[in-house]
This record gives sequence, C-alpha cells and structure tokens, in this order.
Amino acid sequence: MTLACLGTGKMGTALLQGITARQLCPASSIFVSDAIPAAVAAAAASVPGIHAAASNLEAARAAGVVLLCVKPAGIVPLIETLQALPESRLLISIAAGVTLAAMEKAAGHHRVIRVMPNTPALIGMGAAAYACGSAATAEDAATVERILGAVGTVTRVAEPLLDAVTGVSGSGPAYVYTFIEALADGGVAEGLPKDQALRLAAQTVAGAAALVLQTGQHPAVLRDQVTSPGGTTIAALATLEAKGFRSACIEAVRTAARRARELG
Ligand SMILES: NC(=O)c1ccc[n+]([C@@H]2O[C@H](COP(=O)([O-])OP(=O)(O)OC[C@H]3O[C@@H](n4cnc5c(N)ncnc54)[C@H](OP(=O)(O)O)[C@@H]3O)[C@@H](O)[C@H]2O)c1
Repeated sequence: MTLACLGTGKMGTALLQGITARQLCPASSIFVSDAIPAAVAAAAASVPGIHAAASNLEAARAAGVVLLCVKPAGIVPLIETLQALPESRLLISIAAGVTLAAMEKAAGHHRVIRVMPNTPALIGMGAAAYACGSAATAEDAATVERILGAVGTVTRVAEPLLDAVTGVSGSGPAYVYTFIEALADGGVAEGLPKDQALRLAAQTVAGAAALVLQTGQHPAVLRDQVTSPGGTTIAALATLEAKGFRSACIEAVRTAARRARELG
C-alpha cells in the first residue's frame, strides 16, 4: 500500500504512527503534506522515513490511498483539487460532519470512505466507525479497517448511523472526562488529596471499561457483582438514579447526534 496523508495535525500524525508501528506499510511508502510546513516537519520527525511532499497534489499523486486529515471546512475544496489526478484513488476522510454525498460530488472518479475516529486513537486506543461511498469496493473497506485497526477498534455502519457514532464514541471521551473529574471531586469532598482522587477515578474508569471489553459480560451483570444488599454501592446507585444519571447520559448522546445531523 502507498499512502498519502494530507493534513499532518494531531489525528493525521497519530494515524501514521499507528500504521508504521503495525507495519501496514513502510514509512518509505508514505507521503505527507500540510498547509503549515512546520506541521510536515513535526510529522516527519515523529514518523522517521516518511516523505514530505511540496503540495497536497504531489503527495496524493504518489499514493493509491489518500487520508484526508484536515478540518471539516477544508475537505471539499481539498477533494476538488484532487480531480486533477487521472487515476482513481481511495480517499478516506476523518472529518466530522462532511457527508459522503458532498465528498462524492467533489471527488469525480475517486472512491470515498467517511470515518468517525476519536481522540484515544492518539494512544492506540481509538474507537472508530466508517461508512463507504457508492464506488468504494470491498477491498477499500478492508483497507480502511486495516488503517483504523492500527490505532484502535473499528466497525462499519450505514452512513446515517455515523451521527449516532459521533454521539457515543466521537464526543464520548469528553463525557467520560467529565465523569472522571466529578468522581474525583467526590473523593476530594470526602477528604482525599486531589491527585490521588484523580488517579483513583481515572484508573477505575479504565479498569471497569477493560472488564466490560475483556469479559464480554453485560455491564449490568458486572454491576450486580459489586452491589451487595444494603451496602455502599446500592446506596450510591440509588442516588445516581434519583439524580437522573442514566437518562442524562442517554440524552447527551442523542443531543450530540442531533447536533451532528445539523452540522452535516
Ligand atoms: N482531534 C479529534 O479529536 C478528532 C476526532 C474525530 C475527527 N477529527 C477530525 O480530524 C480532522 C483533523 O483534526 P486534527 O485535530 O488533527 O486537526 P489539526 O491538528 O488542526 O490538523 C489539521 C492540519 O491540516 C492542515 N490543513 C488545513 N487545510 C489544509 C489543506 N488544504 N491542505 C493541507 N493541510 C491543511 C492544518 O493547517 P491549519 O491549521 O493552517 O488549518 C493543520 O496543520 C478534522 O477534520 C476533525 O474533524 C478529529
């Protein structure tokens, strides 16, 4: 596979680090470009061996698969410039909100795939979903799965469900940070030093999530295992129910999904 990455900011660089660490393709087969020369230099320093191209077109010309890692507003104009390339490329956009229809209109003869990643991809713990454009092949889908699989988990959905994905995993890290902070604040209110409370809270979230993923057990089953009759946990859970914790989470996801639909 030869790969171009147009836009070497946080997400673009994280993807390249995952791709080279997993040896999906050698660094020498990767071509990068960015509007900011310093961003290209930083990417080249953190992923040794990749080629810094002088322009987006030069990078895309050298590759069969093109990652579009610029901000959403820049995606369609960027794709339009790629029409100058005569042979069909696979264009993979990670931009929030830019629809397959908008991309296909700009892409001409190129194939497009739309991805919703999340920031834990920066440390190889991402949760991503993707939807394929009408011209994308099964091989294209396999390619995107290999690329995203290098920085976390990946699942395919129908495009309308990408808004739900945005609500759950795209925006989800921010809800979890809020929960971690609130959990720690509770500990501080009960006398724990702030740094200890934060470490305990963050590790509790990481450990509980790992248990769900590794055991495959339903969260309700795991919750029942730590909820003894008349104990501390059921008292806390009753408070969460009374304060509307669960419905607040559900509504938060639905509000984010609605907002994603508006932006799209
Ligand atoms: N970070 C996240 O949490 C996250 C999560 C999900 C999806 N995404 C998506 O990932 C994409 C990139 O996000 P990011 O956080 O990596 O952004 P970022 O750090 O700002 O990186 C984007 C880079 O692309 C450059 N750029 C802009 N227009 C360009 C063009 N036409 N050609 C080449 N380079 C160009 C930017 O330069 P300028 O600064 O000059 O514009 C910047 O250096 C966005 O579309 C975002 O929606 C990000």
